[in-house]
Amino acid sequence: MSKAVLLLHGPNLNLLGMREPEIYGSNTLDQINELATAHATAHGVVLRAKQSNHEGELIDTLHDARTWAGGVVLNPGAYTHTSIALRDAISAIVIPVIEVHLSNIHAREAFRHESLIAPVCVGQVMGFGWRSYMLGLDALLGHLGWL
Ligand code: DQA
Repeated sequence: MSKAVLLLHGPNLNLLGMREPEIYGSNTLDQINELATAHATAHGVVLRAKQSNHEGELIDTLHDARTWAGGVVLNPGAYTHTSIALRDAISAIVIPVIEVHLSNIHAREAFRHESLIAPVCVGQVMGFGWRSYMLGLDALLGHLGWL
């Protein structure tokens, strides 16, 4: 099987670029996906990117990933703080998942301080804007021994 990873974005991240740019930066989701794809390609890894605003679709996508991906870089958006179902999906699929956030969730409102998915992820990267994705991707590739 060729080396492949999933880059998965949760709710409202389709609006990146225009959504609260002072918090999330001015890059669009397409630009972030292009940067991540180029980075993965440079390491001989196929990257598939997907965004959904729907919890169930994110879960279906994670289930499907276990059949083709070595691991996942995931920004669950607000589901980070609410979704036991997403957490259970990550536990179920066994392949490694890296949690990423553009913003530092610990420096924001109290309701963002808890991540329900962190305990079932390999690790978290947050607070570095679009670079969180690149750092998360490097963390995943390193974890897989693909760097
Ligand atoms: C986010 C942080 C979440 O708290 C928020 O709901 C998002 C984006 C981030 O990337 O900083 O939608 O995941």
